[in-house]
Amino acid sequence: MSLFQVQGLVKRFGGLLATDHVSLSVAHGEVHALIGPNGAGKTTLVNQISGLLAPDEGRVLLDGADITALPMHRRVAQGLSRCFQVTRIFPKQSVRDNLLLAVQAHSGSSFRFLKPRSHECGLYEAANRLAERVGLQGQLGEIAGALPHGAQRTLDVALALASGPKLLLLDEPMAGMGPDESQHMVQLIETLRQDMAVLLIEHDMEAVFRLADRISVLVYGRVLTAGTPDEIRNNPEVQAVYLGNETLETTP
Ligand SMILES: Nc1ncnc2c1ncn2[C@@H]1O[C@H](COP(=O)(O)OP(=O)(O)OP(=O)(O)O)[C@@H](O)[C@H]1O
Ligand SMILES: [Mg+2]
Repeated sequence: MSLFQVQGLVKRFGGLLATDHVSLSVAHGEVHALIGPNGAGKTTLVNQISGLLAPDEGRVLLDGADITALPMHRRVAQGLSRCFQVTRIFPKQSVRDNLLLAVQAHSGSSFRFLKPRSHECGLYEAANRLAERVGLQGQLGEIAGALPHGAQRTLDVALALASGPKLLLLDEPMAGMGPDESQHMVQLIETLRQDMAVLLIEHDMEAVFRLADRISVLVYGRVLTAGTPDEIRNNPEVQAVYLGNETLETTP
């Protein structure tokens, strides 16, 4: 059974059908990429998956449970976590404090049995582990807003990891990154797939074709097609949508 399923999701903004009966599934351990031109409805779809927007029709299932009506924090508790298209960190706080706040927010059940002092040590350890996991252990004392753009996006991913997700939603994690920063993010996502499934929205086709097990192509709110990277690369309809976008054609 799939870890995650979207079934017949519909979202209308007035007369605009932003999500048009979208269905897709993500298996355990899968990196599933969602691609499509600007305005195709990718963020609108992720907003409904994470609970920021209520769909007009359809269902969202995680581990077989219907989570369509759950508020965001309950979805996070069930194992669904996200990063936003625009980074959401506390820019005036240190990297360590950002991580501590995130760890603390999700520490209710895991640390409640500890005494206050051990509780605090546990939070610091968890924050350090998160920093190491994403490669920010050398920047723990730095002010988050002063970090280079790529490191800020990386911190955003670390914050999303604090809840221990089964499925991580990433909305354009490489946006605005230089080649080295993108490379680092690709490597980070590669390591994450051992522990969780990833739904990746990304315009960087090189990253998409390197990372994705399967790709869904969204156009005007509809899934045009879904398949393996090879199937998507060789699909004439997809090529027509991306005509002029040579990265889709030249990526091995
Ligand atoms: N809150 C809203 N109210 C009205 N229309 C909206 C709203 N949010 C998005 N839209 C419209 O819905 C469509 C899909 O937008 P969405 O942001 O989901 O696209 P996207 O695929 O994420 O695009 P991009 O690649 O530029 O991030 C667009 O036509 C957009 O203008
Ligand atoms: Mg978007």
